[in-house]
Amino acid sequence: MKILVTGGAGFIGSHTVVELQNSGHEPVVLDNLYNASSKVIGRIEAITGKHVPFYKADIRDREALAEIFEKEKPEAVIHFAGLKAVGESVRKPWEYYENNIGGTLTLVDEMRKHGCKNIIFSSSATVYGDPAFVPITEECPKGQCTNPYGWTKSMLEQILSDIQKADPEWNVVLLRYFNPIGAHKSGTIGENPNGIPNNLMPYITQVAVGKLEKLHVFGNDYDTPDGTGVRDYIHVVDLAKGHVCALKKVAPGSGLSVYNLGTGTGYSVLDIVKNFEAATGKNIPYVIDPRRPGDIATCYSSAEKAKEELGWEAQYGIKEMCEDAWRWQSTNPNGYGD
Ligand code: NAD
Ligand code: UFG
Repeated sequence: MKILVTGGAGFIGSHTVVELQNSGHEPVVLDNLYNASSKVIGRIEAITGKHVPFYKADIRDREALAEIFEKEKPEAVIHFAGLKAVGESVRKPWEYYENNIGGTLTLVDEMRKHGCKNIIFSSSATVYGDPAFVPITEECPKGQCTNPYGWTKSMLEQILSDIQKADPEWNVVLLRYFNPIGAHKSGTIGENPNGIPNNLMPYITQVAVGKLEKLHVFGNDYDTPDGTGVRDYIHVVDLAKGHVCALKKVAPGSGLSVYNLGTGTGYSVLDIVKNFEAATGKNIPYVIDPRRPGDIATCYSSAEKAKEELGWEAQYGIKEMCEDAWRWQSTNPNGYGD
């Protein structure tokens, strides 16, 4: 299937393009490179041995979208493009709503004008807020988000659901990701955060490579086994494969589908530190700091629905997640280096 992948040069997008090509699909990448490097495309091509059509374009640019849809005629869109830094979204809410919501509205309008009514959307476990229960099933009520980024995901889920309801020709898949980490086995593509990382694993790998002095653990007084926050970390290659499996839910008549993509297992911050040290032999010094505002104690998925309906489940464990994150970081200490 020919698939337009918005944000396909980013962390999750690039890994998904690899898995799409490996399973015989024809991804076409659109990315404005706001948070990605143009080098990614060549690296993907080196992994798969296949050409990746790439458009440097913005999802808010109607004319560029129209041209791409006319030329490429994709059957479906996997929509990763968006801004994703939680703290930045608190400082720049307008930019987040305009890019994520405005951009998606423009994209969806151009899709329907060109007769492409199949979309897989990158949502997040953040839509559950402080979850009503764990493991979190898809039936768990959505909650209060603690930042504008989270609200863009929650609102876009509602917008896409309403669009599908009004026009049943649409097939909409909402994928709620838990915490993607790791990198492709080749060590040639991976996460490339700007500045000081916000997320745990890139922070740890930058401590390990000597770019940062020590990890700051945000709180050890949560109601969890060791007091630190518990999350459902998932290997990015498993997450990428989840998108390939989710394509079966853009078949005609599928309608609206919602899936968690997680492993079903929670690890604390200190579990991750210990597993990283064991997998890599690197020492990770850390200090305990106060809680980070907006953080919750525990968040992990029930991965049952995706297993039953998509035939997908995560294959990699925490050891591979740590090893692969480290291979990427240690062989590319400055990311893509641009
Ligand atoms: P990323 O920043 O690496 O990838 C997003 C890509 O979108 C970037 O390459 C960026 O340049 C591009 N982009 C942003 N705005 C654009 C625009 N207006 N037009 C065209 N391209 C644009 O992030 P990621 O971690 O790969 O996340 C991909 C998606 O998954 C995002 O929507 C994110 O919100 C969502 N998500 C990520 C996580 C996570 O922990 N990484 C968790 C849940 C959901
Ligand atoms: N943490 C630290 N120190 C750090 C960074 C994180 O102790 O330097 C802790 C956090 O307090 C939390 C855990 O590590 O307990 C994970 O934090 P991350 O920032 O890596 O991930 P979050 O769970 O906060 O959020 C991530 C994405 C969100 C997404 C969510 C989905 O950033 O966009 O996963 O579950 F919505």
